[in-house]
Amino acid sequence: MYSEKVMDHFYNPRNMGEIEDASGVGTVGNAKCGDIMRIYLDVDDGGVIRDVKFKTFGCGAAVATSSMATELVKGKSVQEAMQVTNKAVMEALDGLPPVKVHCSLLAEEAIHAALWDYAQKNNIVIEGLQKPVGDIAEKEEDVTESY
Ligand code: FES
Repeated sequence: MYSEKVMDHFYNPRNMGEIEDASGVGTVGNAKCGDIMRIYLDVDDGGVIRDVKFKTFGCGAAVATSSMATELVKGKSVQEAMQVTNKAVMEALDGLPPVKVHCSLLAEEAIHAALWDYAQKNNIVIEGLQKPVGDIAEKEEDVTESY
């Protein structure tokens, strides 16, 4: 049911933990499944993400997508991190079963929420970034339909 990459990131999650005095922190949840994900970003003065950590209280796919999402944004500029969509995370994991697509959306939204927090604190605008929602349950339906 799950790809080897998903299993690997579930059993050996990368970047799990938290960052003290993080440049940006984002937390999102999905009321339908009750899962919660938090992302911490450490951004340098040049706007590059030098470190990123996550904490996920959720299913295996949520852990694997958090892990992969953090790997994909590490070392990128905050603008480049916008390209780490749930689709990009799923592709990097060699896919997810359709019922687990919403878990990857949680990862995208948590990254966006952390970027939003960073942007607010530093008074900058990240192109294409919208105010995050705390509960992604509503968005979930649209996404599941399009895959
Ligand atoms: Fe909800 Fe996976 S079941 S995030």
